[in-house]
Amino acid sequence: MTPWWKDAVAYHVYPRSFQDTDGDGVGDIPGITAHLDYLTELGVTLLMLGPVYPSPDDDNGYDVADFRSIDPKYGTMDDWRTLVREANARGIRIMMDLVLNHTSDEHAWFRAAKSSPDSPYRNYYWWRPAGADGAPPNNWKSVFSGSAWQWDETAGEYYLHLYSRRQPDLNWENPAVRREVADILQFWVDEGADAFRLDSITTISKPEGLPDAPVTVDGSWQPAHGLIFNGPLLLPYLRELRAAVRADRDILIVAEGPGVTVDEAAEYLRGPGQPVDLILQWEHIDADPGSGGKWGDEWWTPELFARTMARWQDGLEGVGWNALYLSNHDQARQVTRFGDDRAEFRTRSATMLATAAYLLKGTPFIYQGEEIGMTNVDFTRLEQFRDIESVNHAADLRAAGVPDDEIVALLHRKSRDNGRTPMQWDATVNAGFTTGEPWIGVNSNHVRINVAAEDADPDSVLSYYRRLLALRSTHDIIGSGGFVSLHESPDVWVYARTSASERLWVVANFSAREAPFDPAAFAGIDAGRTLIGNHPDSSGSCTVLRPFEAFAVLGEPAGAGR
Ligand code: GLC
Repeated sequence: MTPWWKDAVAYHVYPRSFQDTDGDGVGDIPGITAHLDYLTELGVTLLMLGPVYPSPDDDNGYDVADFRSIDPKYGTMDDWRTLVREANARGIRIMMDLVLNHTSDEHAWFRAAKSSPDSPYRNYYWWRPAGADGAPPNNWKSVFSGSAWQWDETAGEYYLHLYSRRQPDLNWENPAVRREVADILQFWVDEGADAFRLDSITTISKPEGLPDAPVTVDGSWQPAHGLIFNGPLLLPYLRELRAAVRADRDILIVAEGPGVTVDEAAEYLRGPGQPVDLILQWEHIDADPGSGGKWGDEWWTPELFARTMARWQDGLEGVGWNALYLSNHDQARQVTRFGDDRAEFRTRSATMLATAAYLLKGTPFIYQGEEIGMTNVDFTRLEQFRDIESVNHAADLRAAGVPDDEIVALLHRKSRDNGRTPMQWDATVNAGFTTGEPWIGVNSNHVRINVAAEDADPDSVLSYYRRLLALRSTHDIIGSGGFVSLHESPDVWVYARTSASERLWVVANFSAREAPFDPAAFAGIDAGRTLIGNHPDSSGSCTVLRPFEAFAVLGEPAGAGR
């Protein structure tokens, strides 16, 4: 039997920025419950909820102070239970985001750990004495700038934090930590969660002896350089976790997988006792060529994107299942990054991207706002940015003498805040997100780009998403058909989904230029029926693709009578 999550359409809510109902400027759980019908109409069957646990918010909730309750700014446990009940009543399951690589420094475990070397919680974290000269134990750098080690006066030792100094890494080598983690999953399973995203899970197993990382060209070390991902005990830990969770239903476990290659993914996903069901891999999201890493100034290319997606489609065939996504709360908005957010191209490029991505084999994860074509921020001053990664990086650049306008331009392209501005519900003040002062600025383009306007327009991004996602339930070939990439060029990607009785061609022009198209290269496409397209007359017999044109054509299988 096909597991339920293979047919699911997931929607990722970033709770802080979805809908505020109590006027404090921060989104909340009742705000999510209030929009469940909106999600149903979009075709959503799985709601992925960003962290809603108590947190001092050094990293917007990814620093958890208590894994078993709800932060009052988001509501109460009863609000959460109401959300689950109301969602389930509409056929929507709930997925919790669990941050288990680290805790907040305000978590009771960490407070106890640092208070005494004899505390049973001491060994829940990574403590090391200073080097002879007081230096940190190794040269690792935090993802959020600076050393990955923080000296703690009370403890008289350094502790490890791959993220901020307020996010101490948990020591998964300690069996007590692994038992705690399993208990946390069990708690939420018993409360009614059906799925989990395991945040930053590929960094939980550290390399033995915590060796220095090879020093890179610019003298720094970043996790992307490989040492820290997919550590030696990662798979055993994940297997143990999966085996420990008891449920009377099929629980979906999704790994956030920065640094995971398609070959490694196959290990996670293969065979009985497989530790995870899906991986939110990063290769296409990191498909900026070159060595500059996240802040490098090289740009993504459609061809690289298509090749990466195709490699994952091919690589997981018969082995596992893909998670399909184009952005999230850690990424720039896809229409700005991979499409073109200028007024004349925004709708077409947003719908082109959705066509190319969500007709692939896998489970789509739609990130809030992409379905209305939300764009990157329009901030003009550094002070408007909130994200710790952006703020710290900006401080580093300022210290190095980079002028503010250059830093703002860089953040405008790459900052995580691009994906975090409030959901644009309507054209009123604060986009209908809050009656108070929003925790982060609302994009001023909400007067044009908002749910109300998109809902009223049959040619909008939203209307297209509804049609596109609905196809998944009416056409089995989208769920279960095979995949073959037919053409990858600098601008155009054509692939086919295949079955014994049908063939579905998907054609996408990733550029603002026209591109020639030769139907003869895709035998049968000209005789097929256009299932969906982002121009009213898109068809497989065209000879020119218009800017950002995309369509899907259903026809006969290869070789059938032609
Ligand atoms: C993940 C989250 C990100 C967070 C980090 C540390 O990558 O998606 O938002 O900052 O883990 O928890």
